[in-house]
Amino acid sequence: MLRALIAQSMGTQADRIIVGNESEDLIGALFRAVIRPNDQVVTIYPSFGLHEFSAQMFGATVTKVRFNEDWSFPLEGLRQALRSKPRALIFSSPSNPAGPAISETEFRQVIADTDPTTVICFDEAYVEFIEQSKRFDALKILDETKKFAILLRTFSKAYGLAGARVGYSIASDPQLIAALIKTRNPFGVNALAACAAAEAIGDLTHLKNTVALATRERKRVTAALISKGFKCAPSQTNFVFFDTGSSAKVFADELRSKGVLIKGWLEKPFDTWARVTVGTPDENDIFLNSL
Ligand SMILES: Cc1ncc(COP(=O)(O)O)c(C=O)c1O
Repeated sequence: MLRALIAQSMGTQADRIIVGNESEDLIGALFRAVIRPNDQVVTIYPSFGLHEFSAQMFGATVTKVRFNEDWSFPLEGLRQALRSKPRALIFSSPSNPAGPAISETEFRQVIADTDPTTVICFDEAYVEFIEQSKRFDALKILDETKKFAILLRTFSKAYGLAGARVGYSIASDPQLIAALIKTRNPFGVNALAACAAAEAIGDLTHLKNTVALATRERKRVTAALISKGFKCAPSQTNFVFFDTGSSAKVFADELRSKGVLIKGWLEKPFDTWARVTVGTPDENDIFLNSL
């Protein structure tokens, strides 16, 4: 039932959808299906750690291409990395932790630079937060270009159901879904979680209100951080990545001692950057006042 509802909401067929115990389950299922030891996987960094670690768990060597200085997507670096025809390309847009969303023109270029033998995993965990003017239909582009690809979506972010653990993928080809059905955790999604997701996908008003609140507060938090002298990456998500100017770990530890939890990035050269989740107006005020 949930597959059919998702397919309907995306204007596609249910046999192109797989539901899993969140994106983590589905990334694992994809890599289990396609990666063999010593394969190469390309990704962008800084990034959601699982993109890299999951590939490594299946024995892949991971090539990481760094975001450009201005936080635009590193198209030239990706083009070079994709020349070696890696087994998979995986990245998120909007990016976790940085926040920018790739444009349609940039996405088309990355797809054009990808060999047909490379599986593309385009992680759209935060897609619902993207401003209307920057949105595009990645599925349509993948269909047009006939690449071997999956999109990753989740109920954990804009739908606020992280505890229910429901994610889904839409594949360019039903054969890929048939493969993932064999490699995913077979009993990953329980009936209560599936019901919650089915209700959530139908509640467009709640989704709209959540996204509007997150967008408004993200802009306010970003402006306040900038006015206090912090550099911020341009975000299309419900978080802001900002340069603390010194050790992000020490910065995050100090805030923790005041009861405010943010994520200090540890990976060089981003180890002065931290990600703060946009919360309710009151929570955001507590964060801003604690700086
Ligand atoms: C880019 C990205 N993809 C996937 C996930 C996984 O989310 P979940 O497993 O809750 O669907 C996250 C979680 O932070 C994320 O940031």
